[in-house]
Amino acid sequence: MKSYTTSGPNRKLIKEMFDSIAGNYDLLNRILSFGVDNLWRKRGLSLFAESNKELLLDLGCGTGDLSRLSYNYDFKNVVGADFSMEMLVRGARKNKKFPDIMLCNSDAENLPFKNSLFSSCCIAFAIRNFQNREKALREISRVLRNKGQLMIIEFSMPENLMIRTLYKIYFFNFLPFIGGLISGNFRAYKYLPRSVDKFIPVDKFSRMILNNGFSDVKTYRLSFGIAYIYMATR
Ligand SMILES: C[S@@+](CC[C@H](N)C(=O)[O-])C[C@H]1O[C@@H](n2cnc3c(N)ncnc32)[C@H](O)[C@@H]1O
Repeated sequence: MKSYTTSGPNRKLIKEMFDSIAGNYDLLNRILSFGVDNLWRKRGLSLFAESNKELLLDLGCGTGDLSRLSYNYDFKNVVGADFSMEMLVRGARKNKKFPDIMLCNSDAENLPFKNSLFSSCCIAFAIRNFQNREKALREISRVLRNKGQLMIIEFSMPENLMIRTLYKIYFFNFLPFIGGLISGNFRAYKYLPRSVDKFIPVDKFSRMILNNGFSDVKTYRLSFGIAYIYMATR
């Protein structure tokens, strides 16, 4: 039996998991987050400086929601990269009206781009799945130009005890059930809350960003701390 974990040599399993849920991924995102996920993406995109909108790397792009939304925020060219081919195939279909978005099948820890290519990078709900986050951050720093910006949106656990308790009831029970029912992959939707629960605290992750090629890390709390935006400069 397969089990998905957030550490160790499970890259292949994580990739297989995302391949297997790609078909219902967008629908489930909207249902399970009550549509709030796109508000968070928009907030993240609104934080970039105008001077950094030349070439955006959307890393762990999945089906490309963030890439497409970026055009509403005056980004000019976007490359979406993901190691799940199935996610990219779905993304390519949805990108028909966005011929300028280029897609690339690659691993975040070994990016096939030359140094200082991008003016900015965004990562939504993906970095907690990376096996070696420090290596991925150093890779991002390498492919970003000097003063380029990195924006990461990632889930967190709300600090307030009452909200956390209610959220955990939803997150550990209702969400895996609905997600499993619709996707047919109960294990994948059990992995989601576990991976969030195991993800490192906001201050520790901010330090990790600082120690791996970035400065000036700012954090923005979203929806009672259910998610955070991390904004950093190369
Ligand atoms: C939860 S989805 C988020 C997708 C998208 N960013 C969004 O906002 O909906 C996480 C994505 O990260 C990708 N991913 C996970 N680990 C990766 C890695 N090491 N390299 C590249 N992509 C990765 C998965 O394939 C998946 O598409």
